[in-house]
Amino acid sequence: MSEPTGTARRRGPFQVGDQVQLTDPKGRHHTFTLEAGKAFHTHKGSFQHDALIGAPEGTVVRSTGNTDYLALRPLLPDFVLSMPRGAAVIYPKDAGQILAMADIFAGARVVEAGVGSGALSTFLLRAIGDSGQLASYERRQDFADIARKNVERYFGAPHPAWKLTVGDLQDNLVETDVDRVILDMLAPWECLDAVYKALAPGGLVCCYVATTTQLSRTVETMRVMNCFTEPQPFESMVRSWHVEGLAVRPDHRMIGHTGFLVTARRLADGVEPPLRRRRPSKGSYGDDYAGPGAEAGDPAAS
Ligand SMILES: C[S@@+](CC[C@H](N)C(=O)[O-])C[C@H]1O[C@@H](n2cnc3c(N)ncnc32)[C@H](O)[C@@H]1O
Repeated sequence: MSEPTGTARRRGPFQVGDQVQLTDPKGRHHTFTLEAGKAFHTHKGSFQHDALIGAPEGTVVRSTGNTDYLALRPLLPDFVLSMPRGAAVIYPKDAGQILAMADIFAGARVVEAGVGSGALSTFLLRAIGDSGQLASYERRQDFADIARKNVERYFGAPHPAWKLTVGDLQDNLVETDVDRVILDMLAPWECLDAVYKALAPGGLVCCYVATTTQLSRTVETMRVMNCFTEPQPFESMVRSWHVEGLAVRPDHRMIGHTGFLVTARRLADGVEPPLRRRRPSKGSYGDDYAGPGAEAGDPAAS
């Protein structure tokens, strides 16, 4: 049985064409692709790629300037943070939440927009595998080109489960009976009608947005549409720790904010969500409220 796309590049001795991540004595990373007969130059001298070809991961190479470099293949989180970017990428902490909370499974039929630099596309393709289907939509040709290169560099070849379309999702979406839709864009609420048509009953939509105003508009639009389950908004924070002798504490610096996630499930055709038991607190949708459904008043009371 053949291995899933990209797996052969993730294990075994280093081969020509592999990505290598070097760590220098100060913990800094340098990433390059292995080529026979080539030299890697640093400001502390150079070494030959051939010194790594055929060597196991975790090997240490010494440069002509007598500096040791630890060589490992980059993990996917390392790869997406070091790859060339057009648009900002989804951080690995959020990609992990999307894979778990949007329930991305092997063989799933997934739609994604926008593609940006292709970071999330790579996480999604790895999770759905060769038997899944990922239809990705990106409105900008230049970003789509960068994303395609990044995805192909990661897997070492075009991925058989990936279809990339240049254009706005809401005008071009052709897939139906889809299991999951992931939106990472400025105005996901503009795509929710198209998403509803594409999703299979029970399918899940997950939106990633950067600001509270985007989050509010996304959630309220889903509610007003009356064809999704109650949206579940959340964010994740990851603190790294300093552990040295008796000094065991969170690191002083952290990534304080990336974005918010919100998930909801598509109901069956013609079905409306059951009335919410908990009504919004008085004043939540007061006179000043100008969001979706404002004309209709309190959406939960209708
Ligand atoms: C933040 S980037 C996406 C980053 C990507 N998720 C990643 O991990 O690399 C947002 C992208 O959405 C695209 N975009 C915005 N609205 C869109 C739409 N309606 N349809 C397709 N692409 C859209 C933008 O051009 C931009 O490239």
